[in-house]
Amino acid sequence: MKITINGTSFEGKKNESLLELCDRLGLDEIPWSCRSASCSTCMVHVRSGMENLSSITPEEQDLLETYASKANCRLACQAQILGQVDIQTIED
Ligand code: FES
Repeated sequence: MKITINGTSFEGKKNESLLELCDRLGLDEIPWSCRSASCSTCMVHVRSGMENLSSITPEEQDLLETYASKANCRLACQAQILGQVDIQTIED
């Protein structure tokens, strides 16, 4: 399934997280720190395909509500791929 990160497309595997996709392909597009929905470093903006990501857990929801400056954000360490998604990293 096609996963687009900052305009470049990659082949994602079902149920791997967006961060696991980057690990598998050796990509460093998405910064990360905790990998456990604690730091928000891996937050990304979902341009399309929000419905093709796994459900938001309560832990992720807490962090999104605390830090998200835009709608349609997810944590790359938590969001698992279920279908085609287009995301953009968030510049500080
Ligand atoms: S790496 Fe810390 S919330 Fe994802």
